[in-house]
Amino acid sequence: MSHRMKERLAYHLNEQRQRLDYLKKHYGQFKISEVTLEQIISGIRGVTLLITDTSYVDPHQGIRIRDFTIPELLRVLPKARNSAFPLAGGLYYLLMTGEVPDETEAWEVEETWKERMAVPEHVFRVIDAMPHQTHPMTLLSQAILALQTESIFARRYEEGISKPAFWGYYLEDSLNLTAKLPVLAAYIYNRKYRQGEHIPPHPDLDWSANFAYMIGRSDDPIFVELMRLYFVLHSDHEGGNVTAYSANVVSSSLADIYFTASAGINGLAGPLHGLANQECTRWLLRVLHHFGGLPSEEQLETYVREQVERGMTIPGYGHAVLRTVDPRFTALADLAETYFPQDTLYRLVKRVYAVVPRVLASLGKVKNPWPNVDAISGALLYHFGVRQLDFYTVLFGISRMLGVTAQTVWSRGLYKPLERPKSITSQMLEAMIAQADETAPAPLASTPVA
Ligand SMILES: CC(C)(COP(=O)(O)OP(=O)(O)OC[C@H]1O[C@@H](n2cnc3c(N)ncnc32)[C@H](O)[C@@H]1OP(=O)(O)O)[C@@H](O)C(=O)NCCC(=O)NCCS
Repeated sequence: MSHRMKERLAYHLNEQRQRLDYLKKHYGQFKISEVTLEQIISGIRGVTLLITDTSYVDPHQGIRIRDFTIPELLRVLPKARNSAFPLAGGLYYLLMTGEVPDETEAWEVEETWKERMAVPEHVFRVIDAMPHQTHPMTLLSQAILALQTESIFARRYEEGISKPAFWGYYLEDSLNLTAKLPVLAAYIYNRKYRQGEHIPPHPDLDWSANFAYMIGRSDDPIFVELMRLYFVLHSDHEGGNVTAYSANVVSSSLADIYFTASAGINGLAGPLHGLANQECTRWLLRVLHHFGGLPSEEQLETYVREQVERGMTIPGYGHAVLRTVDPRFTALADLAETYFPQDTLYRLVKRVYAVVPRVLASLGKVKNPWPNVDAISGALLYHFGVRQLDFYTVLFGISRMLGVTAQTVWSRGLYKPLERPKSITSQMLEAMIAQADETAPAPLASTPVA
């Protein structure tokens, strides 16, 4: 167990519980948001109804993880050996405790993970039992769910434990699960794309480098660097994104971390969310194929305009919260610019970036015409020969589980209750409007359908 991390976490949870109790007691009636009907009909967009301390998406600055912007985060976290990028263990420490770890504390998490990497045989058998064409996200979700047999929280709960003890077992489960994620991802990759040539984890490597090693690609140090950067960038995006939100609701029922993480992964598998990296790379390759190479800006603009006029979505562009270029896009572009600025797909990414925002902005309805992380991440993986597009979201997923598990440990540590918003029927809504506004037309619901 990473003792220091648990100790600091206990301290901060205790402090935070007191703060929240105080706020609830003295400011319980303080209004944070008002909800309009339009917002309810439009995906609850812009309604603040969650408190999540691991990170915050600033619409104009992008993600702040424990208040650090991406450039700050890359600067302050302890780096892996011979690397410009952070150790995932240090990031996890920060997500969990809110404190920047020193190198020893970051390595302590890495060592804890190493002790917990062994995956029970039945989990591999679950993956092996699925048809070969199964989507890797399905396999990841199933593998995580198959690990549920190992939940310490579930066992202790059955024996009878009280609320203050919950978070400690959620933490144990979280460390056990996150330790195994690179192993599961590599197993899925090797089974699907490397004829089952599995490589066990290397005891000397950090969490991120180990993934590269297990898929047989640790010989390229820049790919290893990309993995370290990638796993930091995708780890957390506050509480309301589909992954975190679904996971939080599931965990609020005291479902253990395995049920919780699997639910989050299922949400990430949608093309409007995590799967956009797969979709975007597919789209970029289609563009190259269509033009027989890199199109000019003019050609690209005509092509994009035709697509949006036909009602198509340009993957990798737009965001529910961001109103600027995603700093995760910029961080990945910096890496590509440093190491392979002439790569064709990367050059296309840049050209798309020069064209798509002005096309989307000209439609007058897209709230954020700028690229998000998915507009580039796949192109970088592709450069390094990871060309199985349907695998891309798995990498997003194992990184995002760092944030999701940290959020979950905090939710249980703060004794958050079951989440259960209220719903009404549309007829009830119409009746409410009619009561408030005498001039309102007769409820639509009572109008017979022709
Ligand atoms: C991310 C996304 C789902 C956000 O949705 P949202 O909050 O509803 O976005 P907006 O409020 O800006 O949408 C307003 C309109 O612009 C359209 N729009 C938004 N992004 C668009 C895009 N990339 N291409 C074309 N049209 C887009 C929407 O479809 C909507 O059109 P409608 O009113 O005709 O239905 C959306 O931008 C999208 O689908 N992007 C592409 C997928 C993607 O990259 N997802 C990963 C996000 S990290």
